[in-house]
Amino acid sequence: MVKPTERQKRLLKHTFIDFQQTSEVIKDPLILEKAEGLYCWDTEGKRYYDAIGGIFVAILGHRHPRVMEAMRRQMERITFAAPLHGVSDVTLDFVEKLGSVTPGNLTYVKPFSGGSESIEGAIKLARQYYKQTGHPGKYKFISVYLSYHGGTLAATAAGGGSKRKAKFEPLMGGFLKVFSPIQYRDRFPSWEEANRFCARMFEDVIVNEDPETVAGVILEPICNTGGMVTPTSEYLQIVREICTRHNVLLIFDEVLAGIARTGDMFAAQTFGVTPDVICSGKALSSGAIPIGALMAREDIADAFYGPVEDGIQFAHGHTFAGNPLACAAGIAVLDEIVEKELDKKARRLGDHLTGRLEDLRRYGVIREVRGKGVLRAVELVRDAATMEPFPPEGKLGDELKVTALQNGLIMRIDADWFAVSPPLIAEEGDIDELGDLIEKSLREALHNLGR
Ligand SMILES: Cc1ncc(COP(=O)(O)O)c(C=O)c1O
Repeated sequence: MVKPTERQKRLLKHTFIDFQQTSEVIKDPLILEKAEGLYCWDTEGKRYYDAIGGIFVAILGHRHPRVMEAMRRQMERITFAAPLHGVSDVTLDFVEKLGSVTPGNLTYVKPFSGGSESIEGAIKLARQYYKQTGHPGKYKFISVYLSYHGGTLAATAAGGGSKRKAKFEPLMGGFLKVFSPIQYRDRFPSWEEANRFCARMFEDVIVNEDPETVAGVILEPICNTGGMVTPTSEYLQIVREICTRHNVLLIFDEVLAGIARTGDMFAAQTFGVTPDVICSGKALSSGAIPIGALMAREDIADAFYGPVEDGIQFAHGHTFAGNPLACAAGIAVLDEIVEKELDKKARRLGDHLTGRLEDLRRYGVIREVRGKGVLRAVELVRDAATMEPFPPEGKLGDELKVTALQNGLIMRIDADWFAVSPPLIAEEGDIDELGDLIEKSLREALHNLGR
């Protein structure tokens, strides 16, 4: 956090900051000027351990040399090819590379410039798919309360968090919600049973709506905004089976969870469930340049391929999608992960990280440590013995936000949980450094609350 100059204050005021009140941000802004590997530095030279790689983006750390070099080389060749009338050779290489690491036969790719674009693309793909495969009435989508699928309007309608959508209502119709297992967990004797019940809710909604009106289920395999909700594999298997039975496309939003952090290239592989479409973004360029992509099953793509007079091509596109620089970065990221087996490393580092987070239970304020691989979250309660939550006016997370930044630690912190996802360049020693920083920040936050 820096003491902003008058000019910085003025310019911050002229900037619409994401989701935050500028008058608050202005008091103590985090203005970064440099980043490398696990760390970034603010304009006063203070170093921060970036435990979420930007915002679940820099999976190889900031400014990874291989990614930088790939972009530098690409800059010497071509940096833009308009998707409307051409494609760059490197974009085709990216399509091949991405298709080689997806589960099942999700080898048909539409590149984008971000996660929201990927979600919008998947929504439009599903609607057009059913229009031209004999089910024109299928247009609705079912997603989960607490989820986040992006900032554009259809993605916002698919999202399940009221704070991020109520201000824009009424949103477009046809987006239905079911409850997240975390909202039902205390009504069932076990997590497994809550998962089973919530998975079956999808079928209840599909049947009650009429399956001939439902196009897709949009699901984050691990839901960050819900507090890194990590379902059982059975939950996703049940949803998979329901979608198949009712001819509904299962769309995994892996914008945040994907690209090796859960211990496999895609969370779908970690849970052993193959969706029909995967939406990706964030870590695909390790933060070097905006990127996104959707990957679809072969037979879905087939419905868009035919004689020009049929007019069945995907009627969708963006100027910067498939940008050559982004594709060069994407190839470098995927090559690095595959060659260095960083998916396996995510499992190993994740086990070590979980051990460190579990150690924090001795403070008596932890309900659960959850996640997969290096994507981990800790749920905070006032009293771990009774599971009593912190009162609204004294949330531990709010205090932790302050102490973490003071200690030079960037995490994703909510009122009742915090999450980390260290880049895969980290070693065990780096995870220990992170564990120490988290513990110090937690101890100080508890102290500030009189504990
Ligand atoms: C799960 C999920 N889906 C979609 C998005 C939207 O991606 P973007 O911000 O790149 O548009 C995000 C962004 O945080 C996300 O976490």
